[in-house]
Amino acid sequence: MKRRQILKGASIGMGAAFLPAPLFAKPNVGGGWGDTAEVYLQGNFGPVEVESTLTDLVVTGSLPKELSGRYLRNGPNPSGEVDAGHHWFIGDGMVHGINIRDGQAVWYRNRYVQGGPNTHVIEHAGKTLAIVEAGAKPTEMTYDLESVGRHDFGGTLTGGFSAHPKRDPDDGSLHVIAYNPGPPPFVLQYVVVSAAGKVTRTVDIPVMGPTMVHDTGITKNWVIVYDLPVTANPALVQQGYRFPMQWNPDYGSRVGLLPRTGTADDIVWIDVPLCYVFHPMNAQEDADGNVIIDVCRYDRMFDGVYNGPFDSNSELTLDRWTLNPGLRTCRSDRVDDRAQEFPRCHPELESKPYRYGYTVTVDGDEFPTLLKHDMQVGTALSLDLGPGRSSGEAVFVPRDGATAEDDGYLMSWIYDKNTNTSEFSVVDAQEMRQIAAVKLPVRVPYGFHGSWVADA
Ligand SMILES: [Fe+2]
Repeated sequence: MKRRQILKGASIGMGAAFLPAPLFAKPNVGGGWGDTAEVYLQGNFGPVEVESTLTDLVVTGSLPKELSGRYLRNGPNPSGEVDAGHHWFIGDGMVHGINIRDGQAVWYRNRYVQGGPNTHVIEHAGKTLAIVEAGAKPTEMTYDLESVGRHDFGGTLTGGFSAHPKRDPDDGSLHVIAYNPGPPPFVLQYVVVSAAGKVTRTVDIPVMGPTMVHDTGITKNWVIVYDLPVTANPALVQQGYRFPMQWNPDYGSRVGLLPRTGTADDIVWIDVPLCYVFHPMNAQEDADGNVIIDVCRYDRMFDGVYNGPFDSNSELTLDRWTLNPGLRTCRSDRVDDRAQEFPRCHPELESKPYRYGYTVTVDGDEFPTLLKHDMQVGTALSLDLGPGRSSGEAVFVPRDGATAEDDGYLMSWIYDKNTNTSEFSVVDAQEMRQIAAVKLPVRVPYGFHGSWVADA
Protein backbone atom coordinates (compact mmCIF):
# COMPACT_ATOMS: atom_id res chain seq x y z
CA MET A 1 0.00 0.00 0.00
CA LYS A 2 1.25 3.41 -0.90
CA ARG A 3 0.61 5.71 1.98
CA ARG A 4 0.35 9.43 1.75
CA GLN A 5 -0.01 12.19 4.21
CA ILE A 6 -3.43 13.53 4.82
CA LEU A 7 -3.71 16.68 2.82
CA LYS A 8 -4.18 19.84 4.75
CA GLY A 9 -5.97 22.90 3.58
CA ALA A 10 -8.71 20.97 1.88
CA SER A 11 -11.34 22.35 4.13
CA ILE A 12 -14.43 23.92 2.75
CA GLY A 13 -14.19 27.67 2.46
CA MET A 14 -16.90 29.48 4.33
CA GLY A 15 -16.92 31.96 1.49
CA ALA A 16 -18.57 29.28 -0.51
CA ALA A 17 -20.93 28.95 2.36
CA PHE A 18 -21.30 26.08 4.59
CA LEU A 19 -22.38 23.43 2.47
CA PRO A 20 -23.84 20.42 2.03
CA ALA A 21 -24.46 17.36 1.08
CA PRO A 22 -26.63 14.81 2.11
CA LEU A 23 -28.24 11.99 2.62
CA PHE A 24 -29.82 9.76 4.84
CA ALA A 25 -31.07 10.01 8.20
CA LYS A 26 -32.16 7.81 10.77
CA PRO A 27 -35.71 7.70 11.16
CA ASN A 28 -38.48 5.37 12.07
CA VAL A 29 -36.14 3.57 14.41
CA GLY A 30 -34.53 4.24 17.70
CA GLY A 31 -30.81 3.99 17.77
CA GLY A 32 -29.07 6.18 20.26
CA TRP A 33 -28.32 9.03 17.95
CA GLY A 34 -27.86 12.22 19.85
CA ASP A 35 -27.38 15.85 19.15
CA THR A 36 -23.60 15.77 19.17
CA ALA A 37 -20.88 15.95 16.58
CA GLU A 38 -19.23 12.80 17.94
CA VAL A 39 -21.81 10.44 16.54
CA TYR A 40 -20.81 11.48 13.04
CA LEU A 41 -17.17 10.71 13.72
CA GLN A 42 -17.62 7.21 15.11
CA GLY A 43 -17.63 3.80 13.47
CA ASN A 44 -17.85 3.92 9.71
CA PHE A 45 -18.93 7.55 9.82
CA GLY A 46 -15.43 8.37 10.96
CA PRO A 47 -12.79 9.52 8.47
CA VAL A 48 -9.94 7.38 7.18
CA GLU A 49 -6.48 8.73 7.82
CA VAL A 50 -4.56 7.87 4.66
CA GLU A 51 -4.94 8.13 0.93
CA SER A 52 -4.31 4.67 -0.49
CA THR A 53 -3.50 3.19 -3.87
CA LEU A 54 -4.17 -0.54 -3.84
CA THR A 55 -3.50 -3.03 -6.63
CA ASP A 56 -3.41 -6.85 -6.79
CA LEU A 57 -6.99 -6.88 -5.55
CA VAL A 58 -8.80 -10.18 -5.21
CA VAL A 59 -12.15 -10.60 -6.93
CA THR A 60 -14.67 -13.02 -5.48
CA GLY A 61 -17.51 -14.12 -7.70
CA SER A 62 -17.38 -12.82 -11.23
CA LEU A 63 -17.02 -9.21 -12.34
CA PRO A 64 -18.84 -8.84 -15.65
CA LYS A 65 -16.19 -8.60 -18.37
CA GLU A 66 -18.21 -6.02 -20.26
CA LEU A 67 -17.60 -3.53 -17.45
CA SER A 68 -14.58 -1.36 -18.10
CA GLY A 69 -14.26 1.88 -16.20
CA ARG A 70 -14.43 3.40 -12.76
CA TYR A 71 -16.99 3.32 -9.98
CA LEU A 72 -16.54 6.54 -7.99
CA ARG A 73 -18.19 7.82 -4.84
CA ASN A 74 -17.76 11.05 -2.90
CA GLY A 75 -18.26 11.68 0.81
CA PRO A 76 -17.05 13.65 3.81
CA ASN A 77 -13.71 12.88 5.40
CA PRO A 78 -12.74 15.69 7.82
CA SER A 79 -8.98 16.13 7.76
CA GLY A 80 -8.45 18.55 10.59
CA GLU A 81 -9.62 19.09 14.11
CA VAL A 82 -13.35 19.36 14.51
CA ASP A 83 -15.30 20.87 17.36
CA ALA A 84 -18.75 20.43 18.82
CA GLY A 85 -20.22 22.51 16.01
CA HIS A 86 -19.14 19.99 13.39
CA HIS A 87 -21.76 18.70 10.99
CA TRP A 88 -21.49 15.52 8.98
CA PHE A 89 -22.25 17.40 5.76
CA ILE A 90 -19.22 19.69 5.97
CA GLY A 91 -16.33 17.25 6.11
CA ASP A 92 -13.68 17.63 3.42
CA GLY A 93 -14.57 15.73 0.29
CA MET A 94 -12.90 12.39 -0.46
CA VAL A 95 -13.55 10.31 -3.55
CA HIS A 96 -13.21 6.54 -3.34
CA GLY A 97 -12.80 4.82 -6.68
CA ILE A 98 -12.23 1.40 -8.15
CA ASN A 99 -11.05 0.74 -11.70
CA ILE A 100 -12.23 -2.52 -13.23
CA ARG A 101 -11.40 -4.02 -16.61
CA ASP A 102 -11.74 -7.46 -18.21
CA GLY A 103 -13.18 -8.95 -15.05
CA GLN A 104 -10.27 -7.74 -12.95
CA ALA A 105 -9.93 -4.99 -10.36
CA VAL A 106 -7.06 -2.79 -11.54
CA TRP A 107 -6.89 -0.40 -8.60
CA TYR A 108 -8.62 1.16 -5.64
CA ARG A 109 -7.81 4.75 -4.72
CA ASN A 110 -9.14 7.26 -2.24
CA ARG A 111 -8.20 10.91 -2.65
CA TYR A 112 -9.17 14.16 -1.02
CA VAL A 113 -11.04 16.61 -3.20
CA GLN A 114 -9.23 19.93 -3.21
CA GLY A 115 -11.59 22.83 -2.81
CA GLY A 116 -14.24 21.17 -0.79
CA PRO A 117 -16.90 19.47 -2.94
CA ASN A 118 -17.88 16.43 -0.88
CA THR A 119 -21.24 15.23 -2.09
CA HIS A 120 -21.24 13.67 -5.55
CA VAL A 121 -18.85 12.83 -8.35
CA ILE A 122 -19.91 12.68 -11.99
CA GLU A 123 -18.43 12.51 -15.45
CA HIS A 124 -19.53 15.19 -17.91
CA ALA A 125 -18.07 16.22 -21.26
CA GLY A 126 -15.03 14.11 -20.56
CA LYS A 127 -14.32 15.63 -17.14
CA THR A 128 -14.51 13.92 -13.76
CA LEU A 129 -16.15 16.45 -11.45
CA ALA A 130 -16.60 16.43 -7.68
CA ILE A 131 -19.61 18.56 -6.84
CA VAL A 132 -21.52 20.08 -3.94
CA GLU A 133 -24.36 22.50 -3.37
CA ALA A 134 -24.49 25.97 -1.82
CA GLY A 135 -22.26 28.07 -3.98
CA ALA A 136 -19.06 26.15 -4.61
CA LYS A 137 -17.83 25.37 -8.11
CA PRO A 138 -17.01 21.78 -9.12
CA THR A 139 -13.51 20.40 -8.67
CA GLU A 140 -12.08 18.63 -11.72
CA MET A 141 -10.21 15.38 -11.01
CA THR A 142 -7.97 13.23 -13.17
CA TYR A 143 -8.69 9.63 -14.13
CA ASP A 144 -6.54 8.68 -11.14
CA LEU A 145 -8.50 11.01 -8.85
CA GLU A 146 -5.94 13.74 -8.36
CA SER A 147 -7.53 17.18 -8.05
CA VAL A 148 -6.87 19.47 -11.00
CA GLY A 149 -8.66 22.58 -9.75
CA ARG A 150 -11.92 24.43 -9.88
CA HIS A 151 -14.02 23.86 -12.96
CA ASP A 152 -16.40 26.52 -14.26
CA PHE A 153 -17.35 24.95 -17.60
CA GLY A 154 -14.97 27.08 -19.56
CA GLY A 155 -15.87 30.28 -17.75
CA THR A 156 -19.58 29.91 -18.40
CA LEU A 157 -20.62 29.05 -14.82
CA THR A 158 -20.85 32.41 -13.09
CA GLY A 159 -22.64 31.28 -9.92
CA GLY A 160 -22.70 28.12 -7.88
CA PHE A 161 -23.52 24.58 -8.89
CA SER A 162 -25.30 21.67 -7.24
CA ALA A 163 -24.64 18.20 -5.94
CA HIS A 164 -27.49 16.78 -8.00
CA PRO A 165 -27.50 17.61 -11.68
CA LYS A 166 -30.17 15.80 -13.62
CA ARG A 167 -29.02 14.56 -17.02
CA ASP A 168 -31.49 14.70 -19.87
CA PRO A 169 -31.05 11.31 -21.53
CA ASP A 170 -32.20 12.68 -24.88
CA ASP A 171 -29.55 15.35 -25.36
CA GLY A 172 -27.04 14.74 -22.56
CA SER A 173 -27.53 18.17 -20.99
CA LEU A 174 -27.32 18.71 -17.23
CA HIS A 175 -29.98 20.57 -15.26
CA VAL A 176 -29.39 21.92 -11.76
CA ILE A 177 -30.97 24.18 -9.20
CA ALA A 178 -28.19 26.13 -7.52
CA TYR A 179 -28.32 28.41 -4.51
CA ASN A 180 -26.12 30.32 -2.15
CA PRO A 181 -27.61 30.61 1.32
CA GLY A 182 -26.25 34.06 2.00
CA PRO A 183 -28.04 37.28 2.88
CA PRO A 184 -31.02 38.60 0.88
CA PRO A 185 -32.10 38.73 -1.83
CA PHE A 186 -32.85 35.02 -1.79
CA VAL A 187 -32.50 33.71 -5.31
CA LEU A 188 -32.15 30.20 -6.66
CA GLN A 189 -30.69 29.62 -10.09
CA TYR A 190 -31.75 27.10 -12.70
CA VAL A 191 -28.63 26.28 -14.70
CA VAL A 192 -28.39 24.20 -17.89
CA VAL A 193 -25.06 22.75 -19.00
CA SER A 194 -24.87 21.42 -22.55
CA ALA A 195 -23.55 17.96 -23.39
CA ALA A 196 -20.43 19.75 -24.61
CA GLY A 197 -19.87 21.20 -21.14
CA LYS A 198 -20.93 24.85 -21.46
CA VAL A 199 -23.60 26.69 -19.48
CA THR A 200 -26.30 27.57 -21.98
CA ARG A 201 -29.00 28.96 -19.73
CA THR A 202 -29.31 30.54 -16.27
CA VAL A 203 -32.69 31.51 -14.83
CA ASP A 204 -33.00 33.39 -11.53
CA ILE A 205 -35.79 32.18 -9.25
CA PRO A 206 -36.65 34.47 -6.30
CA VAL A 207 -37.79 32.66 -3.15
CA MET A 208 -38.95 33.88 0.25
CA GLY A 209 -35.96 32.87 2.35
CA PRO A 210 -32.56 31.17 2.55
CA THR A 211 -33.96 27.73 1.81
CA MET A 212 -31.76 24.65 1.50
CA VAL A 213 -32.16 23.09 -1.94
CA HIS A 214 -30.48 19.74 -2.32
CA ASP A 215 -31.83 18.21 -5.50
CA THR A 216 -34.13 18.77 -8.43
CA GLY A 217 -35.85 16.82 -11.17
CA ILE A 218 -36.78 17.23 -14.79
CA THR A 219 -39.57 15.89 -16.94
CA LYS A 220 -40.30 16.36 -20.62
CA ASN A 221 -41.75 19.82 -20.01
CA TRP A 222 -40.80 20.89 -16.49
CA VAL A 223 -37.98 21.52 -14.07
CA ILE A 224 -38.82 20.82 -10.44
CA VAL A 225 -37.93 23.44 -7.84
CA TYR A 226 -38.05 22.28 -4.22
CA ASP A 227 -38.79 25.18 -1.86
CA LEU A 228 -39.04 23.45 1.50
CA PRO A 229 -38.97 24.45 5.16
CA VAL A 230 -35.28 24.05 6.03
CA THR A 231 -33.63 27.49 6.05
CA ALA A 232 -30.37 29.06 7.16
CA ASN A 233 -30.44 30.64 10.61
CA PRO A 234 -27.45 32.90 11.31
CA ALA A 235 -28.14 32.64 15.04
CA LEU A 236 -26.91 29.06 14.91
CA VAL A 237 -23.55 30.34 13.69
CA GLN A 238 -23.35 32.51 16.77
CA GLN A 239 -23.91 29.36 18.80
CA GLY A 240 -20.98 27.66 17.08
CA TYR A 241 -22.76 25.43 14.61
CA ARG A 242 -20.93 25.07 11.30
CA PHE A 243 -23.96 24.15 9.27
CA PRO A 244 -26.74 26.49 10.41
CA MET A 245 -29.68 24.95 8.61
CA GLN A 246 -32.84 24.60 10.66
CA TRP A 247 -36.34 23.21 10.41
CA ASN A 248 -38.63 26.18 9.80
CA PRO A 249 -42.23 25.01 9.37
CA ASP A 250 -43.54 28.57 9.15
CA TYR A 251 -41.67 28.89 5.85
CA GLY A 252 -44.15 26.64 4.09
CA SER A 253 -43.57 23.65 1.86
CA ARG A 254 -43.99 23.89 -1.88
CA VAL A 255 -42.72 22.66 -5.21
CA GLY A 256 -42.39 24.82 -8.28
CA LEU A 257 -42.89 23.54 -11.81
CA LEU A 258 -40.72 25.68 -14.07
CA PRO A 259 -41.35 25.23 -17.80
CA ARG A 260 -38.10 23.98 -19.32
CA THR A 261 -37.95 27.06 -21.55
CA GLY A 262 -39.66 29.47 -19.15
CA THR A 263 -38.71 32.04 -16.56
CA ALA A 264 -39.53 32.48 -12.89
CA ASP A 265 -42.79 34.22 -13.76
CA ASP A 266 -43.97 31.05 -15.46
CA ILE A 267 -43.48 28.79 -12.44
CA VAL A 268 -46.52 26.88 -11.23
CA TRP A 269 -46.15 26.70 -7.45
CA ILE A 270 -47.92 23.84 -5.68
CA ASP A 271 -48.14 23.28 -1.93
CA VAL A 272 -46.87 19.89 -0.84
CA PRO A 273 -47.00 18.13 2.56
CA LEU A 274 -44.94 19.82 5.26
CA CYS A 275 -41.68 17.89 5.04
CA TYR A 276 -38.11 17.90 3.81
CA VAL A 277 -36.79 16.01 0.80
CA PHE A 278 -33.14 15.54 0.00
CA HIS A 279 -33.63 13.06 -2.82
CA PRO A 280 -36.23 12.24 -5.43
CA MET A 281 -36.01 8.82 -7.08
CA ASN A 282 -37.25 10.18 -10.40
CA ALA A 283 -39.77 12.52 -12.00
CA GLN A 284 -42.08 11.90 -14.95
CA GLU A 285 -45.28 13.05 -16.61
CA ASP A 286 -48.36 10.90 -17.04
CA ALA A 287 -50.76 10.87 -19.99
CA ASP A 288 -52.97 13.48 -18.30
CA GLY A 289 -50.15 15.97 -17.90
CA ASN A 290 -49.64 15.36 -14.20
CA VAL A 291 -46.11 15.51 -12.86
CA ILE A 292 -45.23 12.50 -10.75
CA ILE A 293 -42.27 12.62 -8.39
CA ASP A 294 -41.16 9.87 -6.05
CA VAL A 295 -39.39 11.15 -2.96
CA CYS A 296 -37.64 10.00 0.19
CA ARG A 297 -39.59 12.25 2.53
CA TYR A 298 -38.76 13.30 6.10
CA ASP A 299 -41.54 14.75 8.19
CA ARG A 300 -38.96 17.17 9.65
CA MET A 301 -35.23 17.86 9.37
CA PHE A 302 -32.71 19.68 11.59
CA ASP A 303 -35.40 20.26 14.19
CA GLY A 304 -33.17 20.93 17.21
CA VAL A 305 -30.45 18.62 15.83
CA TYR A 306 -27.65 20.54 14.11
CA ASN A 307 -24.79 18.06 13.69
CA GLY A 308 -26.36 15.82 11.10
CA PRO A 309 -29.54 14.54 9.59
CA PHE A 310 -30.14 11.71 12.01
CA ASP A 311 -33.01 12.47 14.23
CA SER A 312 -35.01 9.80 15.96
CA ASN A 313 -38.02 12.11 15.92
CA SER A 314 -38.02 12.28 12.14
CA GLU A 315 -40.05 9.84 10.07
CA LEU A 316 -38.62 8.84 6.69
CA THR A 317 -40.74 7.16 4.03
CA LEU A 318 -40.88 6.65 0.27
CA ASP A 319 -43.81 8.63 -1.13
CA ARG A 320 -45.25 9.39 -4.55
CA TRP A 321 -46.51 12.90 -5.25
CA THR A 322 -48.86 13.48 -8.15
CA LEU A 323 -48.87 17.17 -9.04
CA ASN A 324 -51.64 18.62 -11.18
CA PRO A 325 -50.31 21.81 -12.79
CA GLY A 326 -53.78 23.01 -13.83
CA LEU A 327 -55.42 22.60 -10.43
CA ARG A 328 -52.19 23.26 -8.49
CA THR A 329 -52.83 20.25 -6.30
CA CYS A 330 -50.60 17.54 -4.88
CA ARG A 331 -51.81 14.06 -4.05
CA SER A 332 -49.44 12.17 -1.79
CA ASP A 333 -49.38 8.37 -1.70
CA ARG A 334 -47.24 6.22 0.54
CA VAL A 335 -45.12 3.78 -1.46
CA ASP A 336 -43.16 2.21 1.39
CA ASP A 337 -43.13 2.81 5.14
CA ARG A 338 -39.58 1.62 5.60
CA ALA A 339 -36.91 4.22 6.24
CA GLN A 340 -34.80 4.34 3.11
CA GLU A 341 -32.58 6.70 1.18
CA PHE A 342 -30.26 7.12 -1.81
CA PRO A 343 -32.92 6.50 -4.47
CA ARG A 344 -31.62 5.78 -7.96
CA CYS A 345 -33.10 4.51 -11.21
CA HIS A 346 -32.05 3.59 -14.75
CA PRO A 347 -29.96 6.54 -16.00
CA GLU A 348 -31.63 6.58 -19.41
CA LEU A 349 -35.08 6.85 -17.80
CA GLU A 350 -34.46 9.88 -15.62
CA SER A 351 -37.25 12.37 -16.44
CA LYS A 352 -39.32 9.63 -18.11
CA PRO A 353 -41.85 6.97 -17.17
CA TYR A 354 -40.00 4.19 -15.35
CA ARG A 355 -40.73 1.05 -13.41
CA TYR A 356 -37.82 0.23 -11.13
CA GLY A 357 -36.15 2.26 -8.42
CA TYR A 358 -33.41 1.28 -5.98
CA THR A 359 -32.85 2.42 -2.39
CA VAL A 360 -31.01 1.42 0.79
CA THR A 361 -32.78 0.96 4.12
CA VAL A 362 -31.75 3.07 7.10
CA ASP A 363 -31.68 1.34 10.51
CA GLY A 364 -29.94 3.27 13.27
CA ASP A 365 -26.34 3.65 12.12
CA GLU A 366 -26.60 0.80 9.62
CA PHE A 367 -27.88 0.46 6.05
CA PRO A 368 -28.58 -3.24 5.93
CA THR A 369 -30.82 -3.90 2.94
CA LEU A 370 -30.91 -3.01 -0.72
CA LEU A 371 -34.42 -2.52 -2.05
CA LYS A 372 -35.64 -2.79 -5.62
CA HIS A 373 -39.02 -1.15 -6.02
CA ASP A 374 -41.45 -1.99 -8.77
CA MET A 375 -43.08 1.43 -8.88
CA GLN A 376 -45.79 0.25 -11.27
CA VAL A 377 -46.92 -2.80 -9.35
CA GLY A 378 -46.15 -1.44 -5.89
CA THR A 379 -43.94 -4.28 -4.69
CA ALA A 380 -40.30 -4.49 -3.67
CA LEU A 381 -37.56 -7.09 -3.71
CA SER A 382 -34.94 -6.93 -0.99
CA LEU A 383 -31.36 -8.05 -0.60
CA ASP A 384 -30.39 -8.40 3.05
CA LEU A 385 -26.65 -7.90 3.26
CA GLY A 386 -26.14 -9.92 6.43
CA PRO A 387 -25.27 -9.07 10.05
CA GLY A 388 -23.14 -5.96 10.41
CA ARG A 389 -23.02 -5.26 6.68
CA SER A 390 -24.21 -1.95 5.25
CA SER A 391 -24.40 -0.64 1.71
CA GLY A 392 -24.08 2.91 0.53
CA GLU A 393 -25.97 4.27 -2.44
CA ALA A 394 -26.42 1.64 -5.14
CA VAL A 395 -25.83 2.91 -8.67
CA PHE A 396 -27.75 1.12 -11.44
CA VAL A 397 -25.64 0.30 -14.51
CA PRO A 398 -27.47 -1.18 -17.52
CA ARG A 399 -26.02 -4.33 -19.03
CA ASP A 400 -24.68 -3.94 -22.57
CA GLY A 401 -27.47 -4.80 -24.97
CA ALA A 402 -30.12 -4.93 -22.28
CA THR A 403 -33.73 -4.62 -23.35
CA ALA A 404 -35.37 -5.06 -19.94
CA GLU A 405 -35.30 -2.01 -17.66
CA ASP A 406 -33.83 -3.94 -14.73
CA ASP A 407 -31.27 -5.90 -16.76
CA GLY A 408 -28.10 -4.56 -15.23
CA TYR A 409 -26.02 -4.17 -12.11
CA LEU A 410 -26.12 -2.34 -8.81
CA MET A 411 -22.71 -1.03 -7.77
CA SER A 412 -21.97 0.11 -4.23
CA TRP A 413 -19.49 0.07 -1.38
CA ILE A 414 -20.44 -2.36 1.36
CA TYR A 415 -18.99 -1.88 4.84
CA ASP A 416 -18.60 -4.92 7.12
CA LYS A 417 -18.57 -4.02 10.80
CA ASN A 418 -17.28 -7.51 11.65
CA THR A 419 -13.97 -6.92 9.88
CA ASN A 420 -13.99 -3.11 9.79
CA THR A 421 -13.30 -3.29 6.06
CA SER A 422 -15.25 -2.54 2.91
CA GLU A 423 -15.82 -4.18 -0.44
CA PHE A 424 -16.86 -3.07 -3.87
CA SER A 425 -20.07 -4.92 -4.62
CA VAL A 426 -21.86 -5.80 -7.84
CA VAL A 427 -25.43 -7.05 -7.61
CA ASP A 428 -27.50 -8.55 -10.42
CA ALA A 429 -30.43 -6.13 -10.39
CA GLN A 430 -32.91 -8.54 -11.94
CA GLU A 431 -32.37 -11.22 -9.32
CA MET A 432 -31.17 -8.95 -6.51
CA ARG A 433 -28.24 -11.28 -5.89
CA GLN A 434 -24.62 -10.28 -5.30
CA ILE A 435 -22.48 -11.62 -8.13
CA ALA A 436 -19.08 -10.09 -7.40
CA ALA A 437 -17.09 -8.41 -4.66
CA VAL A 438 -13.66 -6.85 -4.42
CA LYS A 439 -12.66 -6.97 -0.77
CA LEU A 440 -10.40 -4.19 0.44
CA PRO A 441 -8.06 -4.24 3.46
CA VAL A 442 -9.36 -0.77 4.29
CA ARG A 443 -12.78 0.69 4.88
CA VAL A 444 -14.73 3.19 2.83
CA PRO A 445 -16.56 5.51 5.22
CA TYR A 446 -20.25 6.08 4.78
CA GLY A 447 -20.65 8.85 2.26
CA PHE A 448 -22.99 10.29 -0.25
CA HIS A 449 -23.24 9.81 -4.02
CA GLY A 450 -21.36 8.41 -6.96
CA SER A 451 -21.28 7.27 -10.55
CA TRP A 452 -20.18 4.48 -12.82
CA VAL A 453 -17.91 6.06 -15.43
CA ALA A 454 -17.41 3.69 -18.33
CA ASP A 455 -14.15 4.03 -20.24
CA ALA A 456 -14.70 5.67 -23.59
FE1 LIG B 1 -27.67 14.03 -2.04
